[in-house]
Amino acid sequence: MTGHVKQIAVTGAAGQICYSLLFRIARGELYGPRQPISLRLLDLPQVQPALRGVVMELEDGAFPLLADVAVTDDARLAFRDIDAAILVGSRPRSKGMERRDLLATNAEIFRLQGRALNDVAKLDAKVLVVGNPANTNAMILSEHAPEFPSENITSMIRLDHNRALAQLARKALVGLEEIKGLVVWGNHSPTMFVDWSHATVAGRPLADIVADHDWYHKTLIPQVARRGTAVIEARGASSAASAANAAIDHMRDWINGSGGDWVSMGLCSDGSYGIPEGLFCGSPAICAEGQYARVADLKIRGYARVMLDRTVAELIEEREAVRALVS
Ligand code: NAD
Ligand code: LMR
Repeated sequence: MTGHVKQIAVTGAAGQICYSLLFRIARGELYGPRQPISLRLLDLPQVQPALRGVVMELEDGAFPLLADVAVTDDARLAFRDIDAAILVGSRPRSKGMERRDLLATNAEIFRLQGRALNDVAKLDAKVLVVGNPANTNAMILSEHAPEFPSENITSMIRLDHNRALAQLARKALVGLEEIKGLVVWGNHSPTMFVDWSHATVAGRPLADIVADHDWYHKTLIPQVARRGTAVIEARGASSAASAANAAIDHMRDWINGSGGDWVSMGLCSDGSYGIPEGLFCGSPAICAEGQYARVADLKIRGYARVMLDRTVAELIEEREAVRALVS
């Protein structure tokens, strides 16, 4: 076994996403089968009894890699010297709401957690924001953690990437792993843009294989954009196991590499592609050796430009709305 125990903080630990996520982390799905880990579980004071039940179940899983589990309602204890954090804790939307309706409720959580991250986390910790609206929450977190590198804070658009990949593979009659170069740009909201213009299968453009461009515009893009709503309508609760799965995919690739392929990650913009600096925006990245590199210099023209500008405009609106709420 590797010597150093990796410290992983997970917030919202008593909630439904974590009921799937924690057990998969405990099995070693982030750091691999030889790396011991320690979990720091954060949730609100009133759900600590429920959280103790989750801890019992983690113990009962007899996970060989799980060195220890700590529970707390104090972000400063949860984030001290962590290697990684998955910030799930926040309110989910219910039927009839959009994710941006959660801005007011959840912004304060990320302001306070940003301060804690700033004060006690190691500067190389890898942070993923899952709680909605994930991109803007990541921005708030980063703005309130000025000494913590903004490139180590990411937001989750991987669920949208996975949703698009699954539908595209089915339509093109190819394996999921055969599709390369897919990206979901922008906000984790109905304005997100599933961009297949760089996607290939065995070097051939995916758009040529699918051929039905009407299906791409009129079915795939709206279906992926509205999938979260469809799950809420069907289940009566927001996606949980697939969200946990996407969080694992995002962190595992960041830690271990994405095998040369593109993945979609919510990244703090460096100003490229006309995305204002500091906005967290779904973007293409390649991960290797514990780092990600933004895919640079893509040509974004015509329809893609319009779609990217539309989702960026919404992120700017969210930023303005949140500035009025959180100082
Ligand atoms: P849930 O209500 O089941 O669990 C949320 C948990 O967060 C609860 O246990 C709650 O007590 C806790 N919490 C609330 N405030 C907290 C705080 N200040 N600190 C720590 N914990 C806190 O919700 P869920 O289904 O697990 O979803 C959690 C979030 O993830 C929601 O905002 C949801 O919209 C979002 N989500 C995002 C994606 C994505 O793709 N980015 C996908 C699915 C869900
Ligand atoms: C999802 O996409 O399933 C989540 O963001 C939950 C939601 O509110 O849609």
